Amino acid sequence: MSQHDAYKGKRVVVTGAASGIGQQTTEFLLAAGAKVIALDRNAPALKVDQYISIDFTKPESITAAVKEIDGEIDVLLNIAGVPGTVDPDVVMRVNVLGLRMLTELLINRIRLGGSITHVASIAGAQWAANLDEVKRLLETPDYESGVDWVKDHPMDGKRAYDFSKECVVVMAKQQGQWLRERGIRVNTVSPGPVQTPILKDFRESVGPLLDLVTRETGRDATATDIARVILFLSDPTLEWLNATDVQVDGGFMSGLVGGWVKLN
Ligand SMILES: NC(=O)c1ccc[n+]([C@@H]2O[C@H](COP(=O)([O-])OP(=O)(O)OC[C@H]3O[C@@H](n4cnc5c(N)ncnc54)[C@H](O)[C@@H]3O)[C@@H](O)[C@H]2O)c1
Repeated sequence: MSQHDAYKGKRVVVTGAASGIGQQTTEFLLAAGAKVIALDRNAPALKVDQYISIDFTKPESITAAVKEIDGEIDVLLNIAGVPGTVDPDVVMRVNVLGLRMLTELLINRIRLGGSITHVASIAGAQWAANLDEVKRLLETPDYESGVDWVKDHPMDGKRAYDFSKECVVVMAKQQGQWLRERGIRVNTVSPGPVQTPILKDFRESVGPLLDLVTRETGRDATATDIARVILFLSDPTLEWLNATDVQVDGGFMSGLVGGWVKLN
């Protein structure tokens, strides 16, 4: 018996399945007997049940991808994302606007008892301090109006990444109403630094603070550390864990409060 048995036979959509955290999550799901529908701009190396090419920077690509998914699904895992080293417009398209559009297009196809987990980041931990700005972006009704909002509120890549993850955390809190309305839970997982191909980009855009996280916690996360929590949170047998953000960072953020992590 494996710890992911609850996924046996479940239809799970995984974005970002071709690399890093998404790939590891997909590997666990396949081993548990889930039917994985992988959405990524790159084809996954793993033998998934269906691969659909998608580019989250293009809304028409998201619409087309959803049309290729047959029938109902049980779980949606929004893992695809880009770091703050890419164009801020692309960061917002992939990390927020595309994620939101896909989720909204699929919500009516998620079975009762299903779940959605978005991957955010501890980079989004300041969401409460920036709540007004976050809410204004999230009030945009669709992808294109979100793009226009971003154009009118220029940010550098580092801020765009942090802001994108603040938006994802707050979005899940808003979507938490879906449990009452539709019987579907929504949560976020916020990793600290993870050993994946984009970690070097994070080191470049975040700078010494990221090294501090690694030093104070003793190591970077592995993709396995994060995938296990994603699958725990999204487990179709869980019922009451909803609209919450789980920081998977070796305790770094809490250590700042607890006093055992020092900023210098
Ligand atoms: N690695 C870290 O240190 C870290 C820390 C905190 C949060 N995260 C978040 O974890 C998630 C997964 O990141 P990862 O570390 O596994 O990175 P990764 O680069 O290994 O995987 C990201 C995946 O997203 C896909 N993707 C990127 N842009 C896309 C687009 N326009 N359309 C379709 N697919 C696209 C990529 O092809 C790739 O398969 C991201 O949301 C990232 O922001 C990562």
